[in-house]
Amino acid sequence: MKKIGILTGGADCPGLNSVIRAVVRKGMQEGYVVTGIKNGWVGLVDYDTRILDLRLTSGILDKGGTILGTSRIKPQEDPRQMEKIIENYKRSGIDFLIAVGGEETLKTALALHKEGSVKVVGVPKSIDNALSGTDYAFGFDTAVNIATECIDRLHTTAESHHRIIVVEVMGRYTGWIALEAGLAGGADVILVPEIPVDIKKVCEALKARHRRGKNFSIIVVSEGAKIEGYADEPIAVSNMERRRYGNVGELIAKIIEEKTGYETRVSVLGHIQRGGAPTAYDRVIGTQFGVKAVEFGEEGKFGQMVSLRDNALQSVSLEKAVEQHKSIDMKLYEMAEVFIVN
Ligand code: F6P
Repeated sequence: MKKIGILTGGADCPGLNSVIRAVVRKGMQEGYVVTGIKNGWVGLVDYDTRILDLRLTSGILDKGGTILGTSRIKPQEDPRQMEKIIENYKRSGIDFLIAVGGEETLKTALALHKEGSVKVVGVPKSIDNALSGTDYAFGFDTAVNIATECIDRLHTTAESHHRIIVVEVMGRYTGWIALEAGLAGGADVILVPEIPVDIKKVCEALKARHRRGKNFSIIVVSEGAKIEGYADEPIAVSNMERRRYGNVGELIAKIIEEKTGYETRVSVLGHIQRGGAPTAYDRVIGTQFGVKAVEFGEEGKFGQMVSLRDNALQSVSLEKAVEQHKSIDMKLYEMAEVFIVN
């Protein structure tokens, strides 16, 4: 009996279930049994699996989250976990594994591929759109649409109260969500991690708007943005010892109020950007990625990730895919400046 394993790791996001459904449909069509591994790499450490079939994966295309569950662990930094994963992979009789996730999940996949015992194909997931091996990862489009809707809503209240509203969006090291949602939502200022924030310039822009009779403004800031001249202090570190974001919006609002005297509020969109139904685009690319991942497995393209380049599905090595963060498109940022007060 031919067997495919599938797991979803790292942060959840809308579109994961679209991939799972596609892998099960395509896999079964090609004569495979599809084994779902629970909670990302944890499911291979603990041998927590279940067979997925058409019944279990029907009606999930439009559901956010992941029916398999997820976790954030880094087995490549723990030899005992790596050993367990390899042992349980062999025990499961899986012919190849489809690892759906972002940077960390795919780094584990790469480490396992290099070790040689696990045959693995990667599928890129990232609301941050930060994976350099693909133009788009699924989840990003949904996050941008949610953030845009929130910006639209915040616009009306900012205008009524003649306030500045700072909207903090996710994105970690990159400003993709801020840039695209800021553009779509008609933000007056967009701040991204790729460009240090010149707070003086921001305040001048707000004052200029006031002089033009616009006594409200929307500032979209990416959680990873850094303000020139201010210490970059993380407010909390999770049990994974990685930086947790979430204070830059507050800091910007405080400085703006001090420097301009304009009443300023902050709205941190947080995990709302990761919840709920995927957009049609994310459902479609999630489905395409899932089907392609099965094809890659059949073709023996292990250690590769499904990638979308210039609107075509391609393969890219996992090595290349996780090599660096994909910074925002500077041409788009420069274009956005046409609409932004400066
Ligand atoms: O990488 C996705 C992401 O949502 C980031 O944008 C954010 O910084 C982080 O995950 C939040 O992680 P957690 O859900 O563990 O708080």
